[in-house]
Amino acid sequence: MKHFLSILALLTLVACQPKDPVERKIDRLIAQMTLDEKIAQMTQLSGGQITENLENQVRAGLGSMLNSMGEEADYYQRIAVEESRLGIPMIFARDVIHGYRTIYPIPLGQAATFDLALVEEAARLTAQEAMQAGIRWTFSPMVDISRDPRWGRIAESYGEDTYLASEMGAATVRGYQGKDSIVQMAACVKHFVGYGASEGGRDYNTTWIPEVQLRETYLPPFKAALDAGSLSLMCSFNDLNGVPLSANKHLMKDILRDEWQYDGLLVSDYASSENMIKHGNCADLKEATLLSINAQMEMDMESHAYLLHLKDLVKEGAVKEDLLDVCVRNILRMKFRLGLFDNPYCALETPNYYNSESLATTQRLAEESAVLLKNNGILPLNTKHSSQNTPMTVLVCGPLADSQHDQNGTWCFDKVDSATVTPLMSFRQWAKEGKIRLIEQPGKHWSREVSEANIEQLKRLAKQAEVVLYFGGEESILSGEARCRAHLDLPGDQSEQLRTLKATGKPVVLTVMAGRPLCIGADIDAVDAVLYAFHGGTMQGPALANLIMGKVAPSGRLPVTFPQAEGQIPIYYNKKNSGRPTYNPVLYDDIPVGAAQFSIGADSYWLEYGDKPLYPFGYGLTYTTFEYGPVTLSDTILLQASSPHRLIATCTIKNTGHCEAVAIPQLYIRDLVGALTRPVRELKGFQRVSIPAGESRTVTFEITEEELAYWHLADGITLGADGAYAFSAEKGDFHVWIAPNSAEGEPAKFALR
Ligand code: NOJ
Repeated sequence: MKHFLSILALLTLVACQPKDPVERKIDRLIAQMTLDEKIAQMTQLSGGQITENLENQVRAGLGSMLNSMGEEADYYQRIAVEESRLGIPMIFARDVIHGYRTIYPIPLGQAATFDLALVEEAARLTAQEAMQAGIRWTFSPMVDISRDPRWGRIAESYGEDTYLASEMGAATVRGYQGKDSIVQMAACVKHFVGYGASEGGRDYNTTWIPEVQLRETYLPPFKAALDAGSLSLMCSFNDLNGVPLSANKHLMKDILRDEWQYDGLLVSDYASSENMIKHGNCADLKEATLLSINAQMEMDMESHAYLLHLKDLVKEGAVKEDLLDVCVRNILRMKFRLGLFDNPYCALETPNYYNSESLATTQRLAEESAVLLKNNGILPLNTKHSSQNTPMTVLVCGPLADSQHDQNGTWCFDKVDSATVTPLMSFRQWAKEGKIRLIEQPGKHWSREVSEANIEQLKRLAKQAEVVLYFGGEESILSGEARCRAHLDLPGDQSEQLRTLKATGKPVVLTVMAGRPLCIGADIDAVDAVLYAFHGGTMQGPALANLIMGKVAPSGRLPVTFPQAEGQIPIYYNKKNSGRPTYNPVLYDDIPVGAAQFSIGADSYWLEYGDKPLYPFGYGLTYTTFEYGPVTLSDTILLQASSPHRLIATCTIKNTGHCEAVAIPQLYIRDLVGALTRPVRELKGFQRVSIPAGESRTVTFEITEEELAYWHLADGITLGADGAYAFSAEKGDFHVWIAPNSAEGEPAKFALR
């Protein structure tokens, strides 16, 4: 009885609480809105030009426009605020994916930095620039787990790992939105969910993801971004387990709304509701509208579905108007959080783009995102390679050596190519300062071109140089949306160029500027050093020159496993063991030609490659070497749900080389025996630690039950019982590594009791 009374008191208290003032304003607006106005508010249309039709839509209460900016945005906004009946401001959205004017490395490159603070800072500066053009809503970050480099959108992702993508996505949200109560630019985490698992790495393709994998691998980065405050979320194009996401009630309702209690705005992808007709789960746009609204898709981007059919569906009683009120409430709440009712117009009269802070930040991010994959000692370049004590003669060449357009990568509509500084431009500067003698042959700008004449010319020039710096990779249009590749080679005749250059006897340094991992083991074997730099943005030129010349030591680490060949895909580090793991691969070369019968064992591997990737997740060299000491634990037992309830894992890292550099110790854990089989390793933490030559640093990580939890049937619940799956840790033995990458290190052991 006493218990009942206290609950009653609590309920009364909650009921009597004055409602949040913003919610009261929203109540008042909704009470005044007609059905047509609610539907208009739930619609987003493309701008980009001023048309009478759009003006009329805005006058009728349109909720949002995408791709309308600057003066045009202000023009439409004035109509919304001054001529629409209720004066509700619109919100202007755009794909500001890795920078607005100042372009930062592609997200895959940003992930390679493992530098959350810098990634957050880049997002903050991006928002500052975009807001000056009136953009208050960006369709970013994309946190789709991407384990298939054929998929062009891997460039927009943070790679293969759930933990890294979660941390990166959350940092980006914090950066865009800022710390003030008025949000600077709303983030929109996308694409909910599983888009990166498209079959064959072909964009928009079917996905099949079992619930356990959804929960453990694909959903956590979304949860992390929403927990970081993302004001919105975008559904994906794909058909997941038979239901396109634009109508997937399990994801949109059961998980997003009921379980996670998300009250932010859910927007469709571009015409994704209409796309369901082609998916084949609805007959026409009216049915698509019904399916989308029933999944509480709150804003329709460019399908025109809600505009055309929602009113009829409400009138026919198929959709309750209350549901529209919930949607409109979430839309209006975002507008209030952005302060649009008080400040609806573009922020500044004279925009301040490419300021020194933005340029310095993107250069640092580009420096940190390059991964040194191979170095036979040629890097960093210095005069000791020169025959006399004169500056070294350097040939700078390759299709990406001077391509202002391509080094920015995918999704950067608003950059100005001429503001981009290429590697060649930077080396010209080094030459001007007398540090090198420069020969240049940037070649053509298209990575796909083939040219005999160019190869001959390269050969001639290489003979005059002491070292060849080749900037190759992919032109920007080869990655991004709908840019999938079946062969992950260096396009055009780049491989031939590299071999020709190497045949001159001169050392060759290959820098790859690309939107994805490439299967270029043979090219790597052919050269002396390889920097894998992704597409690095506005200041990638000076960043690469600094790395090559040794002004900065490389510190990037791979955010994704590099396959040896396309046939190994998908290949990722946190796989499960098979029942027959690889102990003793027998490769093609080991099998006698013509052997009718041979025993190749029964392990799990590829005859051509064994079980190894080209490079593992987390891998990267620098200009020094690090020695990782053993992992020590504060205890060998972690007690479940009682004190101390956490372990401290410690490791000392020694810089055994001759220059200061950044180590990135990575914490991995393995649950040895589970009710469901567990991955061989899972990343659970990382740090960036700068260590001077000869010195050591000790790093510590905390391990709690949370790091050990996974999605399975909770203890004591009968198989098949409804709702019994949850994240929880199982008692038993665990391994823990603090290692330089996902393939190295010796584990320490502990048990959860
Ligand atoms: C389609 C893409 O999938 C999505 O990522 C993007 O934000 C929208 N188009 C809007 O341009």
